[in-house]
Amino acid sequence: MEPTTSLFRVGQARATAGLDRQPRLDMAAHRAVFGTLPGPSAADLIEMCEQVDLRGRGGAAFPVARKLRAVLTASSRGKRRPVVVVNGTEGEPGSSKDKMLLARSPYLVLDGALIAARALNAREIVIAVAGDGPHARSALEAVAADSRISRMVRVVSVPDRFVSGESSALVSAINGNRALPPGIKTRASDSGVHGQPTLLSNAETFAQLAVLAMLGPAGYASAGDPNEPGTVLLTVGGSVGQPAVVETPTGESLGHILDICQASPAHGVLVGGYHGMWLTPEAAYNIPVSRAGLASAGGLLGAGVVLVLGEETCPLSEVARVAGYMAGQSSGQCGPCKLGLPAIAQSLAAITAGGGGLDQVEAVRRTAGGIRGRGACHHPDGTGRFVTSALDVFADDLSQHLFRGTCGRPALGVLPLPAEHRETQLTVDWTRCQGHGLCARLVPELVQIDEQGYPEFLDAPVPFWLSRDAKQAVDMCPALALSLTRVKEEPARAALPGPVRAPVPDLTSRSAGMPALTKRAQRDADLAVNSAWIAALGNGRVD
Ligand SMILES: Cc1cc2nc3c(=O)[nH]c(=O)nc-3n(C[C@H](O)[C@H](O)[C@H](O)COP(=O)(O)O)c2cc1C
Ligand code: SF4
Repeated sequence: MEPTTSLFRVGQARATAGLDRQPRLDMAAHRAVFGTLPGPSAADLIEMCEQVDLRGRGGAAFPVARKLRAVLTASSRGKRRPVVVVNGTEGEPGSSKDKMLLARSPYLVLDGALIAARALNAREIVIAVAGDGPHARSALEAVAADSRISRMVRVVSVPDRFVSGESSALVSAINGNRALPPGIKTRASDSGVHGQPTLLSNAETFAQLAVLAMLGPAGYASAGDPNEPGTVLLTVGGSVGQPAVVETPTGESLGHILDICQASPAHGVLVGGYHGMWLTPEAAYNIPVSRAGLASAGGLLGAGVVLVLGEETCPLSEVARVAGYMAGQSSGQCGPCKLGLPAIAQSLAAITAGGGGLDQVEAVRRTAGGIRGRGACHHPDGTGRFVTSALDVFADDLSQHLFRGTCGRPALGVLPLPAEHRETQLTVDWTRCQGHGLCARLVPELVQIDEQGYPEFLDAPVPFWLSRDAKQAVDMCPALALSLTRVKEEPARAALPGPVRAPVPDLTSRSAGMPALTKRAQRDADLAVNSAWIAALGNGRVD
């Protein structure tokens, strides 16, 4: 958790109970607050989850009862004892709630996992964390402190990347392989850790499961919206005076939560994180915190991330910066991620820099539509949704960039990205390049050959899954013309003198005042919608 991130709660504390008095609940403090560990049978646990319609808190809101039942069925069918996996990886840069729970209330998460493990007669519990921060140390300490727990529970650390927390990537990492999705859709409940049926759920989900087992369905449902009872943990950040993890009953006004965190949402509010959706400030202030409430405004709760963009920064640059990050965070195994996300990121970067036209906007929308549902995991769909909702909500700002080249605001980097996130780019020394074209064969995702036989470089960072190939291209270039250079942080651009009052064109109409594309913008547009690339956006893998 960021050191400046506070913990707030609205109404009675549930998952955060006791944390107003102590920074971390050890076992004794935990038992004093939450009582003894309940031991419901699998049938009772499923029944409880069904009564309150408990949903997963890792992003997809999958019904916990259905997952428990699937693991139970697979386990009794194959006479195999299941494994329980706590997903505490929290790769979403704007999210802190799982790290907060593991760092400050680790036994609550453990209780949820132990309750599920006992009910399912599981043979092992794995707590997966990313990085080695306080959350990871706290989880290790909690497990080591009790020999009954350490006999059954181990903590596994995975690389701190966005895609590491995707369920099949996590299973792969726990099985000793790379923390990447295997490229084909798999269900952990059928075959997960060591091929065993696996209950894989988010850290907060296990904390909520423990609270439910302790309070019972009636007690649990005494807080929140009766249709989606209980509390949720939100992580609120961006342009806010007080970044915080907030525990709130469902049904509470999102506007109230934003006020508590001293938000200044001039441009928009992102709900659901970097796989989520942008809302206008008006919409965000007028909806309740619930799946249905957010859905009514076209948003989604996801993993509970709420990020605010204020007046001070250029929203399009913020979105372009995150889109570049997300393109680099895929595992690069399926066409949509390998080709579609870099193309989207590149078009957005061109528009933001003032070199893109309406063609680029259309290319972003078309590519986002084309990749939908075609990855082996949800990464391309989520990223596409993040980007296209930004084009809708930031339409005014988009117009300024298209027709004036800039909105006049600096790119401040308000949307959080990991501090250690450093990107490199493939660059060429044109005084040396002799047009051998070897680079285009080694990294076709980044280099195309133009009509004159010279390489054209995608103006985007090298994603981690291409870094080996890009290095090989540098090493093998016969003219020694290639190098990998650090991408510089975009310098803050000077504000235009006075407010920008350009007429806002209708972006839904292709012909509305569309300026002629510059040569450079035309080339970027061609790159973004290169038909060969888009044609390659087939189903599943592209090797
Ligand atoms: C690209 C990608 C990244 C993900 N990262 C996380 C993560 O960091 N933590 C998490 O709990 N779930 C993450 N998920 C969701 C998991 O795949 C999985 O659905 C979730 O952990 C299941 O827990 P739940 O049912 O309790 O929500 C990610 C999904 C995708 C597609
Ligand atoms: S969709 Fe993207 S992140 Fe998901 S498995 Fe395919 S390449 Fe990897």
